[in-house]
Amino acid sequence: MKILLLGSGGREHALAWKISQSPKVEKLYVAPGNAGTQAVAENVAMAATDFDAIGRFVKTEAVDMVVVGPEDPLVKGIYDYFKADPALADIPVIGPSASGARLEGSKDFAKQFMQRHHIPTARYATFDGTRLEEGCRFLHTLQAPYVLKADGLCAGKGVLIVPTLEEAERELRDMLGGKFGNASARVVIEEFLSGIECSVFVLTDGRHYAMLPEAKDYKRIGEGDTGLNTGGMGSVSPVSFANKAWMQKVEDEIVRPTVEGLHTEGIDYKGFIFFGLIDCDGQPKVIEYNCRMGDPETETVMLRLKSDLVDLFEGVAAGDLDSREVTFDERAAVCVMLVSGGYPGSYEKGHEVTGLDVADSVVFHAGTALKDGKVVTAGGRVIAVSSYGTDKADALAKSMKGAEQIKFEKKYYRRDIGQDL
Ligand code: AMP
Ligand code: GLY
Repeated sequence: MKILLLGSGGREHALAWKISQSPKVEKLYVAPGNAGTQAVAENVAMAATDFDAIGRFVKTEAVDMVVVGPEDPLVKGIYDYFKADPALADIPVIGPSASGARLEGSKDFAKQFMQRHHIPTARYATFDGTRLEEGCRFLHTLQAPYVLKADGLCAGKGVLIVPTLEEAERELRDMLGGKFGNASARVVIEEFLSGIECSVFVLTDGRHYAMLPEAKDYKRIGEGDTGLNTGGMGSVSPVSFANKAWMQKVEDEIVRPTVEGLHTEGIDYKGFIFFGLIDCDGQPKVIEYNCRMGDPETETVMLRLKSDLVDLFEGVAAGDLDSREVTFDERAAVCVMLVSGGYPGSYEKGHEVTGLDVADSVVFHAGTALKDGKVVTAGGRVIAVSSYGTDKADALAKSMKGAEQIKFEKKYYRRDIGQDL
């Protein structure tokens, strides 16, 4: 079959790497892709949100399936766009409808959904510009630190955690006043939860679900989880505290009620669900939902998924995911992200990347481009070095070796991925 994968980051290279291993695939396209996806697929110069161009391409190239990497096209309704065109309606889109993507696209929707289905999460309330005073009063009922979230998508920047009531009130005023444009026209204020985080992923056909390997990502720029938030500096899978009993709780109290809740509410959801969880003294709670895979979690999850991913996608499309086999690799996987110096602040692009033929790791490109036949940096996160190991220390050691071998100007990476567990 012919598959079109949308997106251009490390997540998409990892998905492309996995999809391309399937004997079911005759041709894989990635739009727009990066210098890494070009090696396992054919890049197509289309934005992941240019639905008209994507629709035309799917028709002319007779593409059999579309897999959506990032949230943007999903929240903007690519699934619904396909359903509305008779010539595209039968082409499976792996990803939820716009209605389902609200789990990520609207924090208020996600919180209300969790409340309706008794899914454990932080206590909260939502306020718009007409209810600033009430919002301030609600803040007074909470303990520091204060968590404020823009309701809409903000490219990962819409969550603020502030230490004092005074700052929280000021931020609430600024957010409702348009700090994040329309995305913060409504603000979710929630109770601060403390604990260690874990990302859990499932694929669902709308009725059944398949649990994928769990992972933990490392968001801060500095070792020991210090400094500014980034898109993710690395990941590890498995996660030691997410043992069998804990994962059973996650499945019973969070995953199943979510999938059943979507179904009973008549929400069309055929794709990945990402559960951002936090462990509160043994009780898993939902911090956030995402309607896609995580990045850089995918760069370890795909290493540990043994099953044919395309077979699972076919199960999603056919609605018989329960009849497909899901097996995991018992080995550990660690991903170390090589980033451009200065990231997540301003950084340079266009530096040549060398040393990419690493023997003991799988090298995923995150922000790269081809220029005059050379691989050059094209983003803050540049390369994800992923490795298998007998345990996480072994996997980390291999990724460290790869991280040293790969060279570009002002390269930076963390050396402590997985070490806190
Ligand atoms: P989100 O975009 O909702 O995932 O939030 C970004 C990050 O903020 C999360 O990964 C957590 O580390 C943190 N966070 C969000 N909500 C809470 C909360 N209620 N309590 C503690 N930390 C939180
Ligand atoms: N790694 C977190 C995310 O993809 O949102």
